Amino acid sequence: MCGIFGYIGRRPEAVKLVVDGLKLLDYRGYDSAGYVALSEGKFISVKKVGKVAELEASLSDLLTPSNIAIAHTRWATHGKPTEINAHPHFDDQSSLTVVHNGIIENHDAIREMLQKKGIIFSSETDSEVIPQLIGYYYKGDLLKAVQKAVGKLKGAFAIVLMHKNHPDELICVARECPLAIGIGKEEMFIASDAHAFLTHTKKVIYLHSSEIAVIKRETIEAFDGNAVPITKESEDLDIDVEKISKGHFPHYMLKEIYEQPQSVSNALLSRYSDEYGTAILDELGMTDEELYKIQRIIILGCGTSFHAGLLGGYMLEERARIPVQVEISSEFRYKNPIIQENTLAIAISQSGETADTIAAMRELREKGAKIIGICNVQGSTLAREANASLFLRAGPEIGVASTKAFTSQLILLALITLRFARMRTMSQKEGKDFINALTCLPTQIRSILDHADLIEKIANKYASYENFFFLGRRFMYPTAMEGALKLKEIAYVNANAYPAGEMKHGPIALVDDKCIIVAFCSDSVTYPKILNDLMELKARNGKIIAIAPEGSRELFSIADDIIIIPRTIDELTPLLAALPAQHFAYCVAKKRGTEIDKPRNLAKSVTVG
Ligand code: AGP
Repeated sequence: MCGIFGYIGRRPEAVKLVVDGLKLLDYRGYDSAGYVALSEGKFISVKKVGKVAELEASLSDLLTPSNIAIAHTRWATHGKPTEINAHPHFDDQSSLTVVHNGIIENHDAIREMLQKKGIIFSSETDSEVIPQLIGYYYKGDLLKAVQKAVGKLKGAFAIVLMHKNHPDELICVARECPLAIGIGKEEMFIASDAHAFLTHTKKVIYLHSSEIAVIKRETIEAFDGNAVPITKESEDLDIDVEKISKGHFPHYMLKEIYEQPQSVSNALLSRYSDEYGTAILDELGMTDEELYKIQRIIILGCGTSFHAGLLGGYMLEERARIPVQVEISSEFRYKNPIIQENTLAIAISQSGETADTIAAMRELREKGAKIIGICNVQGSTLAREANASLFLRAGPEIGVASTKAFTSQLILLALITLRFARMRTMSQKEGKDFINALTCLPTQIRSILDHADLIEKIANKYASYENFFFLGRRFMYPTAMEGALKLKEIAYVNANAYPAGEMKHGPIALVDDKCIIVAFCSDSVTYPKILNDLMELKARNGKIIAIAPEGSRELFSIADDIIIIPRTIDELTPLLAALPAQHFAYCVAKKRGTEIDKPRNLAKSVTVG
């Protein structure tokens, strides 16, 4: 939910390095930003409300030379986005400073205890209890003070801290929130996401599970949650630098929309056999016998990942005839679920850090379910804790609104469906047909993107309307949910998704000539039904935008505007119908002038539950 960046090393431009690093993390939160550097025994700190760009604008040309600095970009949880609440925070002696991502659940009790000891607080945040508590325990041994303080903290957090008396080290702690340490030449980088230091080094160590690290220019001393020294193995990042830049696109979201032919191809790569007409998913780490024994599947996710999960559930039940329960993670984790034997759980999370999905996954694991992760980030909490993970291979998704991750999640769910179906109900020929439909998708996506100008024209026509219904039936209903979410989160427009058949049970009362209906009409089984639905809405002056496959002539007399997409099998149509929905939302947001990559009140990864 917040972005952290730290530097210690040979270069005396620590402030510029940490602010540059922060710019690559600002999708994690942009309510306020700040840094502290240590120079000749003094802290130099600047904190600004707003985006990292505001902080960068405040940097003077003559930056004080420093070899050690920490920085933070905030998504406010406790305390308004003000300068005083911006990180980094200090102890009341201003001897040490901390940047923090996560939530300290027992911050009130700690604050009260310290205030009784005469310690003065300056902010209203939960984070400030961290430097204050460490400062309270500090008697000269910084690591000991950190270990003692962290033992008192409840909640999920990642912390980086710096102390005036220890100018040659940074101390990091990662409990549930991620921290990546980049190993350079006589320099070290610390970041919430590894790609933020990718231009400096590809050698990375991930800190997690309450581990603590003392980081110096050339050494890393790591300890587990019980203060036992541990050895951390480094990995090589497999991300290319150009993947974290916008290139010629005005926004990351547009770049990621246009990356989908490639990202879908990547998700498919070497994961199917033309010869046998089945999916090759050795990454699942499950034998045919184990797969065959699965009697029930539970799918978990939030937001877009939940929508992908719904579609995965439709596919698996339709083609593999396995009962599937799809759950919103934040609800499921409090349900005290009943888990039968031979249950497989699929936890879907682009970031692999969504607190609710991780908590729900842990609940399921405790009850004996096997967990498969579908994730886009190597080394993420979800990827580490699942029994096995299928990676999207989509490259970093920076835009807060998920696009390429969604379509790649659907690819992996389709491959899982194919694997299970071929063991139960699907013939080799049907399997080959399914694979053929999958391999046509990148070209079909490209053909949709080739008509982006038509989508933009329609978006501009309706950009000033305030109320939208997104409707669909069967595979098109979760697709409608995803389309509505895009418009809500980046254009701030009230968009509600409904099963089209549900409208006459109440919501149709809202339909008039100021109400725009985006109808997803690509489900072959329910196509005649949705035509009736739309005629009922047209009769009440609703304005209709239809997204439909080639040849949908009946719609020409019903819809005000039509976006045609290629035909494919019902299971894969959501993947194609999502493209116009994504681009429609992008164009409406552009027309309305909202912050497309960093929409208000949001952050890319919801790491607090
Ligand atoms: C989708 O556009 C949103 N950014 C949001 O709903 C997101 O899908 C949700 O927070 C889940 O994130 P995850 O996939 O990283 O778990």
